[in-house]
Order: sequence, then structure tokens, then C-alpha cells
Amino acid sequence: MKPVHVVGVGMTRFGRLEQSITELAVEASLEALKDSETLDSRFDRLIIASQNPDEFTGIGHLSTLMADRLGFVPSGATRIETGPSSGSSAFEVAVAIVGAGMADLVIVIGVEKMSEVDGRSASRILSKMMSQESETRYGATPAALAAMVARRYMHDYGLTRDELSLVPMKAHRNGAKNPLAHFQKEVTIEKVNSSPIVADPLTLYDCSPVSDGAASIVVASERIVEESGLRDRSVQVLGIGHATDHHAVQHRLSLTSLNATVQAVREATKMAGISPTEVDVFELHDAFSILEIINMEDVGIAPRGSAIELIKEGVTDVDGDLPVNPSGGLKSRGHPTGATGVAQIRDVVLQLRGAAPKGIQVESPETALTHNIGGFGNNMVVTILKKGS
Ligand code: COA
Repeated sequence: MKPVHVVGVGMTRFGRLEQSITELAVEASLEALKDSETLDSRFDRLIIASQNPDEFTGIGHLSTLMADRLGFVPSGATRIETGPSSGSSAFEVAVAIVGAGMADLVIVIGVEKMSEVDGRSASRILSKMMSQESETRYGATPAALAAMVARRYMHDYGLTRDELSLVPMKAHRNGAKNPLAHFQKEVTIEKVNSSPIVADPLTLYDCSPVSDGAASIVVASERIVEESGLRDRSVQVLGIGHATDHHAVQHRLSLTSLNATVQAVREATKMAGISPTEVDVFELHDAFSILEIINMEDVGIAPRGSAIELIKEGVTDVDGDLPVNPSGGLKSRGHPTGATGVAQIRDVVLQLRGAAPKGIQVESPETALTHNIGGFGNNMVVTILKKGS
């Protein structure tokens, strides 16, 4: 693969927002275009990620719509969908196109507008990513499956309710310092434990919210970076891994390890030539608190059954040796599904540039890893980026 660079990023506030899905996508894109000084450039492709725009908003065919709205006609435009990992998958496609020499300049957009439907409908729409035959027809939701996983993990490794609550506590502590986060307030263990049960043992604060928001990334070839003098702001793509598992949880080998993560990490680290523990900052897909723990173990930064010890010791804090989710993660930054993977990459790009918000900037990171889940515990995309080029 030829060298591929990220030269610009943009993101809207995440939360329950007034703007429409197209307004959000335009806002994030214009920021990424300005950031990369490519407002007047000709783009070869637009790749947009959105999980369920038709069901959430009634608006479809976002690819052509956005190419037109952003003034990109006649550039090719494609929509990518791999569930909540759609954003990272869109990035993967952009990297592949530029890396193959088919394009020099590609914009990636991730967007979801989820608040136009009520909570019950949002849950029903999101549940479509799960197996109809084995899960949704019995009433399962993502939260219900996560609860089952949490119960099994607690049984196998002795994780307690108070320990699990440390995960959302850290997320909210970081999110409180992120001006674009959906939730910007700290929570205590007691608050997490006593909030309403969503699916036993998971409470409200163990779950990522239903959010609106968009993020955008400008991906460029070596030629563009050289000719446009963008090297000082460039972040290089070192590796990408992408793997699936069996659709239904009941057909998988384990409840407490997500094999698609293990496979995707193996691919990404092999391509990057770096081991997970050498990475300086991580954004992991904590759609439910238990997943941050399992992801740390599957990514390979904590031995099986002991991720909670690293969290307790502060190893995954912003100033720890292995900072996880300094942005606040999905729990606190929010989870507009199609936008999440793009937002994760945008956030680590700011980290690598040393431009993350005050209080959540990790000290001088050189490398970063993002991990994005599609479906329930399925269709994982792992991306490894490096400062400079
Ligand atoms: N964490 C913290 N607070 C939350 C929250 C969350 N995840 N979700 C909602 N809230 C807050 C709201 O801000 C609101 O506060 P307010 O009364 O002070 O305004 C209150 O809780 C009620 O909000 P509401 O939207 O009515 O919540 P809800 O009960 O309909 O939904 C969940 C809560 C957890 C069920 C919902 O957010 C959910 O389904 N999350 C999971 C989404 C999902 O599965 N994503 C895909 C994962 S891959």
C-alpha cells in the first residue's frame, strides 16, 4: 500500500441536537475541509457512513445527496454500512482507495441523527443489526445481550458491581472535559449503581446514549501532502484490521471474549509492525461498560480477567501508561452510531497533533489505536495511526 495520510478532521457536538442529518454532515465536513485547507480542492471520492438513516430520519441515498450538498459533483460517492462500525469501515475504504493509487483526496463522513424517533423505536431500529432468527424475535436488544455478557464475566472473573461502575466513572470524568461530548458531567459509583436498571445488571450509566452527531476526515495521498505542504498536520495510517464473527452471540465460542476484535487487532498490528502495548493512546468501543473491559483484554493490553485491575490502578487514565477513551468514549462523548468510528479517529488525530482539549490531552503520544464494533460484538475495525509522516 502507498502511504496514506489524514490531513484534516471535523466534528459537531454530540447529543440531542436541533440540526437535521444533512446539516450535521455538512457542519462536520466543512470543518474538516477548512482544517485541511482543501476547501477549493477537487475531491476524487466521498465516502459516507450511516447505520440507519432511512429509519431514523426518513432520508436515504446520503451518498449522492452529500456529494451535491458539498459541491463535490461529479466525484464518486458511496455509503458504507457495517452497523455501528460503519464510520471505521468508511475510513478503511478511503484508505484502500488512496493506498491503491485510485484517488488522491477523499472525504470520509460519519453521521447519525437518532433523536427524531422515540427511545423505544430507536432500540427497535438498532436491534435490526442483531440476528432476527436467534435474537431480536425473542425480544433481545443490544443492552440485553451486553447484560448477559456482563453476568457471565462477573461469574467467571469475580467482577463486582462497584468495580464495573469505575468504567462509566472514568468515561464521564474524561467527557466532562470534552466540549463536544453528549454528557459533560462527572458521576459517582453510587450514581451509576442507583440509576435505573436497563437490563440487569446494567444500569442507565452502563449504556452509551442515543445521540445525534457527525464527524469527518480528509484522507490524502503522499502526492497531495507533498504538493500542498500538509506534512506538518499529517497523521499517517499505519494499519487497519477488519474481522467478523458469527452473527448471533449463541453461535460464538465465548461470551467474555469477542473473537472479531482479536482477529482485527492481529491484522492491524501486523500491518503496522507494532504491538498493542506499544501504542500510546486508545479509543475503544465502550457501547456498554462491560465492553471496555472485554475490549482491553481482546486488544491485548490486559491479561484475561484482569482489565479492571489496570482501571483501578489508573493505568487507563489520561495520565496513565495506557490511556483508554480520553474523549469520554461512547458512554460520555455519545454514540451516534454511523459517526462513532469517524469521531474516534478524529479524536486520536487531535491527540497525535497535541491538540486535544485541556485535561484530556495525553502526554506526547506518537501512536494511537481505535477499535469500533459493528453489530453486537461483531464486525470489528481496528485502526492504528502514527504522528507525522
Ligand atoms: N447515560 C446517562 N444518561 C442518560 C443516558 C445514558 N446512556 N441515556 C439517557 N440519559 C438521560 C437523559 O439525558 C435524560 O436525562 P434528563 O431527564 O436529565 O433529561 C434521562 O436519562 C432520560 O432519557 P431518555 O432518553 O428518556 O432515556 P431512555 O430511558 O429512553 O434511554 C437507554 C436510555 C440507556 C435505554 C438508551 O440510551 C439506550 O438504548 N442506549 C443504548 C443504545 C444502543 O444500544 N446503542 C448501540 C450500541 S452498539
